[in-house]
Amino acid sequence: MKNVRFGIIGVGNMGSSHAACLFADKIEGAVLTALCDIDENRRNILSEKYPNVVIFADYKEMISSGIVDAVIVATPHPLHSEISVFAMENGVDVLCEKPADITAEKAALSAEIAKKTGKKYAIMFNQRTNPLFKEAKRIVESGEIGNPTRLAWIVTNWYRTQNYYDNGDWRATWSGEGGGVLMNQAPHNLDLWQWIFGMPERIFATCSYGKYHNIEVEDEATILAKYKNGATATFITSTGEYPGTNRLEIIGSKGKLVIEQGKLKKWILPSDERTFCFNHPFPTVDFEPEYSEIVQTEQESGHRGILQNFTDSILKNEPLISPGSDGIFELLISNSAYISADKGEWIELPFDAKEYTNFLSSKVSDVQKKSSKSSIKFHDFYSNRWKVNW
Ligand SMILES: NC(=O)c1ccc[n+]([C@@H]2O[C@H](COP(=O)([O-])OP(=O)(O)OC[C@H]3O[C@@H](n4cnc5c(N)ncnc54)[C@H](O)[C@@H]3O)[C@@H](O)[C@H]2O)c1
Repeated sequence: MKNVRFGIIGVGNMGSSHAACLFADKIEGAVLTALCDIDENRRNILSEKYPNVVIFADYKEMISSGIVDAVIVATPHPLHSEISVFAMENGVDVLCEKPADITAEKAALSAEIAKKTGKKYAIMFNQRTNPLFKEAKRIVESGEIGNPTRLAWIVTNWYRTQNYYDNGDWRATWSGEGGGVLMNQAPHNLDLWQWIFGMPERIFATCSYGKYHNIEVEDEATILAKYKNGATATFITSTGEYPGTNRLEIIGSKGKLVIEQGKLKKWILPSDERTFCFNHPFPTVDFEPEYSEIVQTEQESGHRGILQNFTDSILKNEPLISPGSDGIFELLISNSAYISADKGEWIELPFDAKEYTNFLSSKVSDVQKKSSKSSIKFHDFYSNRWKVNW
């Protein structure tokens, strides 16, 4: 195969950004051949903007047309697994927007079909391309900060106004997206948490539903987690605080990392704390840890980086930065957080998938949210309002 022929399913905010990127030949080895959206108005605009690209109203027709080798799935999340599975079963590789779906169970099904069909399947966890997170993962895995003992992440710089929530009728509803900030904005951070620090074994959470906005789902959540080795994690997120904070702190027995405002700060102790704790002759210590910092100079390659990696994985069998099967983990965290918040109990992972389905059905209510159709925007880069300064 010389070029991967791409189709995009769901050409709204994110899909239009992927379309612009592919159309402008920004991805080596990739070409845009098809677009699909159920919205007629969008299709008309797309036909004008992309005269040589075939426009479809039905994703099954696009996938079966023979004019695409791979698809990007950028519809609302509850359709992600259904579309991914159909594509892979029909011989088409899949790059799916985050989250992989709204339940860990459906994400696991997509991963299983990828394994069965041998098709490439990746998730758009674009923040995995950020040099600071990549470095934090490398440091933790190398053992440089010793035995990891605690992660604390305050990520409240996902601020959104009511206008955002009114801009698209699927947003911020249990039926339309299966949750709020944990399901829409925080999947990136939940993924990075588990990518760098590993999966916890127990979760406790509180969620505030419509605390800051006129929405039925949560716009604030606090998660506590425990690990098999005794490590703990806390995770606080919100779309209702301005100005927000984004501070990730990782402690190990031999050092500490902090990522905040475009810097990774690192402190390394002269020896492991577990050793000097029991051998030091005084009640406290005054060691100067070795300090260094990395300033983020290079921009993360972001969406484009993941898209290039996915294309290279098809053409050159390069390893995927964010394999589709990894999409299950952050959903295990968010799904269990919802159950915990509902029951007021600690939840052991993996939880009972049926329990989550029951929880979700109980949440799907008739609440009618004020909504207006989102306007169509075409960007060369994903618009600034999505940008996060680390
Ligand atoms: N990776 C990121 O940084 C990032 C950022 C924003 C959004 N996203 C993800 O992208 C997805 C879409 O979000 P958005 O903000 O672009 O939403 P959007 O509402 O702007 O766009 C969704 C589009 O999908 C279309 N659609 C719905 N059902 C369809 C179907 N059955 N077949 C074809 N098209 C269909 C809609 O008409 C709409 O045009 C979400 O899952 C979201 O989480 C990812």
